[in-house]
Amino acid sequence: MTCIDLTIEGEELLRALEELAQINRQPDGSCCRIALTEADRLGRDLLVEWMRELDLEIDVDQIGNIFGTYGRQSNAKPIMVGSHIDTVSTGGKFDGPYGVIAGLEVIRALKRHGMVPPCPLVVASFTNEEGVRFQPDMMGSLVHAGGLDLLTALRSEDREGVALGDELKRIGYAGQLRCGSLVPQAYVELHIEQGPILDRERVPLGAVENLQGISWQEITIHGQANHAGTAPMSSRRDAAHTAMKIVSFARDLALRMGGQQLATVGSIHLDPGLINVVPRKAILTVDLRNPEEHRLKEAEGHLIDYLEALSLEDGVSIEKKRLARTLPVAFDLEIVRTIERSARTLGQPIRRMTSGAGHDAQMMARICPAAMIFVPSVDGVSHNPAENTEPEHLILGANVLLKTVLALSYKDSAP
Ligand code: HGY
Ligand code: MN
Ligand code: MN
Repeated sequence: MTCIDLTIEGEELLRALEELAQINRQPDGSCCRIALTEADRLGRDLLVEWMRELDLEIDVDQIGNIFGTYGRQSNAKPIMVGSHIDTVSTGGKFDGPYGVIAGLEVIRALKRHGMVPPCPLVVASFTNEEGVRFQPDMMGSLVHAGGLDLLTALRSEDREGVALGDELKRIGYAGQLRCGSLVPQAYVELHIEQGPILDRERVPLGAVENLQGISWQEITIHGQANHAGTAPMSSRRDAAHTAMKIVSFARDLALRMGGQQLATVGSIHLDPGLINVVPRKAILTVDLRNPEEHRLKEAEGHLIDYLEALSLEDGVSIEKKRLARTLPVAFDLEIVRTIERSARTLGQPIRRMTSGAGHDAQMMARICPAAMIFVPSVDGVSHNPAENTEPEHLILGANVLLKTVLALSYKDSAP
């Protein structure tokens, strides 16, 4: 059996994706395994069980990243694949788990034929990629890559004031492995596109060459609580009204700037949030993205200017807090080309792409050559229970990952 003949059949891949998706499945079909909740713990436990079944060496680091290693006897630098298994609350089955489970299937294919590559293979599942409960997102890989110090991450708190470090202990995943001690020679992440391009163009594969910059801010507006029935409209300091202006401004800003500028207000909380009280406080989040750093900076500047003017106009005070900020990332061209060659050996078309979503690969690119493989998302929908990718595309993507890992593993020796 040579590398050329190795394939991933796919039924175990599809089965495992379904099994993981059942954990805390919501009535509307959403996968809801928010980082460091009970559901996340159950997902982690299932992943560790699968790694044990494959006889992988399992390590958990101090931020809860889980690593399963195959072929550690070699002291060569490992090749790492992986992604995340935490979800947003309206998650689909594939965002994250696909890249982790496909990594296990790569190892299963090797083991099935008794093949041990010349370097260890590591499957990683990074903590808190989604960042919806604790910010920033891609937290586990960011700490792993040295971009966020461990203590700061452990001290981050959710809306209820619960610390991430305490949750990590509570779910039993406060590991011993020193963060960042596993430095791979390359990192390849297989992921669904989560956008409409591949599906619209009927192309089954994407070789992701770069990823856009992300700016997350939390904006708090302080107005004045007052009686809905007696406070004159002219004298109100209505935090909700100001918040709505910011929602419209953000959207209009992205449309006005054009190009690839994106703006999203994904969450708004009103206080006290009662029908007959003028809101005294509003807390909202603004997610700005652009693949060009200078344009992203420009968008951030416009927002700051607007908030300053708005606080005078509405007689409210406005605070800003940065939740996450990542620069656009260019992936490793050699790995991108290897991914393209892998697709061609399978006789499949592939196209270069930019990733709109953030991924752990953008953090791993800080410490090693990294790149991503995309497969189509039906109708470009994600972070939604309707998220879907055709089984044949899921299996094809896993085989491109297998071929890419083999090509990278054997690049210095004939397979
Ligand atoms: O926000 C993102 O792009 C990723 O899903 N965390
Ligand atoms: Mn993801
Ligand atoms: Mn996601």
